[in-house]
Amino acid sequence: MQTPIGVFDSGYGGLTVLKEITKRLPQYDYIYLGDNARAPYGNRSYETVYHYTLQCVDWLFKQNCPLIILACNTASAKALRTIQQNDLDKKFPGKKILGVIRPTTEIIGDHSKTNHVGIMATNGTVQSRSYLIEIEKFSADTKVVQQACPMLVPLIENNEFENEAADYFIKKYITELLKQDDEIDTILLACTHYPLIKKQIEKFLPKDIIVIAQGEIVAASLEDYLKRHAEIEQQLSKNKSIQFYTTDSAEEFNDHASIFYGEEVKAEHVEL
Ligand code: DGL
Repeated sequence: MQTPIGVFDSGYGGLTVLKEITKRLPQYDYIYLGDNARAPYGNRSYETVYHYTLQCVDWLFKQNCPLIILACNTASAKALRTIQQNDLDKKFPGKKILGVIRPTTEIIGDHSKTNHVGIMATNGTVQSRSYLIEIEKFSADTKVVQQACPMLVPLIENNEFENEAADYFIKKYITELLKQDDEIDTILLACTHYPLIKKQIEKFLPKDIIVIAQGEIVAASLEDYLKRHAEIEQQLSKNKSIQFYTTDSAEEFNDHASIFYGEEVKAEHVEL
């Protein structure tokens, strides 16, 4: 029986995280679920993000995943804590869910020399203030400002991110972010879709500002977690398989996914 690591995102963005995880930990089996039929989550309410995420997590646990990574900042910010507190022990005893915010906030302070960090994220992630709260815990002397970038996920999901329209919004959001704090030397891409536009973002920034994507950070943190949690690691099957599922059309998923994943994928449709 396969007991894969589940990786969830509202759509395609989590594929950028899955890519880095499988690069670092190729021995395991993986199952990816994109809730493309209901993406993006970025502007949705807490209740809706919680409800959708719980449904997806429930499906992944039913596929025998001992552990799920919420490779979506919006879901990590708006649903993870509630699921961990209210649902995990009751409905899925012994199972674990990890998000992408904690591993990132643990180390982001180490990257900044000025101790001024900028966050680019969806509306939902910004409103949750999760990054402000978590970074405060790990590097209290780091000043953090946030910029909501609501147009970026739709542009990326619709493959309209390498044109003047995308450049316009990227420039606008960067200008607004730097206007809040001109000492920022580190910008965190706190949305799993944004690695696709990392180069465009860098194009509009002074050379001394570094841009950080989460994939490698999350992969390193997962490796460390599995070393510390033998009871989970030993449950994971190790056949190097990766399965992809989407709540929307599998054909469409296959057409778009390679931009995020860097290679062709063959997904199946799932009805939740
Ligand atoms: N990829 C998700 C994230 O990291 C956002 C996509 C969405 O808004 O659904 O926040």
